[in-house]
Amino acid sequence: MNFRSRIFPSSLLAFFLLPLSSRAEMTNEALARANAAIQAAAPRAQADPARPIFHVTSPGNWMNDPNGPIYYKGYYHLFYQLNPFSDGSGPKYWGHVRSRDLAKWEPLPIALWPSSEAGEAEVWSGCCTINGMGQPMIFYTSIAPGKSAQTHAEQWAALGDDDLIQWRKSPSNPVLSETLHGAKKIYDWRDPFVFHEKDKTFLVTGGNLNETKGGQAAVNIYEAQNAALTEWKYRGVLFLIPDPAARTAECPNFFKLGNEWVLFVSPYGKVQYYVGDFDAETCRFHPRTNGFLDYGPNFYAPNTMQVPDGRRLVWGWVTGFPEGHGWNGCLTVPRLLSLSRDGQLEQNPAPQLAKLRGKAVKFQNGLVGICNTNTMEIQAEIDLPTAKTFEMQIGDAGSKSLIVVSFNGTELQVMDAKAPLTLTGGRKLNLRIFLDRSVLEVFANGTVCITKTIQPPAAAANLTVHVDGGSSTAKLIHAWPIKTIW
Ligand code: FRU
Repeated sequence: MNFRSRIFPSSLLAFFLLPLSSRAEMTNEALARANAAIQAAAPRAQADPARPIFHVTSPGNWMNDPNGPIYYKGYYHLFYQLNPFSDGSGPKYWGHVRSRDLAKWEPLPIALWPSSEAGEAEVWSGCCTINGMGQPMIFYTSIAPGKSAQTHAEQWAALGDDDLIQWRKSPSNPVLSETLHGAKKIYDWRDPFVFHEKDKTFLVTGGNLNETKGGQAAVNIYEAQNAALTEWKYRGVLFLIPDPAARTAECPNFFKLGNEWVLFVSPYGKVQYYVGDFDAETCRFHPRTNGFLDYGPNFYAPNTMQVPDGRRLVWGWVTGFPEGHGWNGCLTVPRLLSLSRDGQLEQNPAPQLAKLRGKAVKFQNGLVGICNTNTMEIQAEIDLPTAKTFEMQIGDAGSKSLIVVSFNGTELQVMDAKAPLTLTGGRKLNLRIFLDRSVLEVFANGTVCITKTIQPPAAAANLTVHVDGGSSTAKLIHAWPIKTIW
């Protein structure tokens, strides 16, 4: 195992020679500062009328990517990138929440923080898995102080207790270092994701092979050499993103959905998916179809979880909130993944979200209704046999916070975000709309998603539906107030 790293052996040795109590104080000090900063921000965050109530947020300050989603011992666990010190981006820690039912969530203590005594400044994104010895294990990207993440990174691990609440850094860190690549240089090397196939354990990372020009965004693959998952072998580039505009491949997720292999990458732009075959011997991926996970401007860095029945959920980071409110960022609702017959990715809100619904308001023919809340779900089934356009307004006409969702026959539009949408099977449009104060998530026919932040946040909303240019029936429109997940 290669131990060359930025952890200078002398400082590491000095740290381990300290009495246990002083070691604990050193780490607790970083943690205590982080907790104090979160606590200081929380009242302002909570008082902000724009802060979502049924999307996962940190108790205060900044959050970004969902990290390490895992179902373990009766709980769905989600970790997330957290800057405890401000509501703008900054040094990253791992926040933690868990849920028994995917509806109600419980905030938990910070799971990972930088081990400054071991030469670590930030703990970036990664995954959580159970190693071959049955130990919960987090893999993440470790960033050193004063070094650019573009040119220097290591992949570290931490071992967890049975509740996944307390973590200790692996004595084998770094578990993957750049020396694995030999002469090859991988820039922006990060975001480890572990998966298994044919009795083997693999790990993928994102990065790019050409720092200055871009256009060589690469997903790299490694194969585990021991059951403890502390030794790895570089198996090359799993897949080079063909899109020349993709500058890098952040947060790769690679998993089996039915009989197909699916790759997600976040390329500093719209998140892409690819569907195809994986050869576990050669470690190469051959996609047949591809597309975007979400057409909105505020969706990034999704991460997936396999649940006990074998299905898979995804959460994305909802970006694009203003600073200065004591919080910033949330996760999408959990989305259940599937594939259509022609290899398109389908995403539908996890059925468990229905537990959060209050009393239904039903609109059958008179298509105007009062919901009187700005935290709600709308479900609409619309037949558009000949109609050219469809438009739904949430809010009061003329008001600044009016939300407009429309379809013109070829394109779905949510405010200013547009997505191509083809109606099949009798021209049916099925919409699921989740409005959570300043967050809007729209699902159309399972194949198109648009996530958007809205400023100012939605007002307690009326609902109006217009259909122009021909016959159509809004078979049924339901709306439910949605309760908080906390
Ligand atoms: C994606 C990302 C990851 C990185 C993390 C840092 O948003 O840039 O590549 O690990 O955020 O917070």
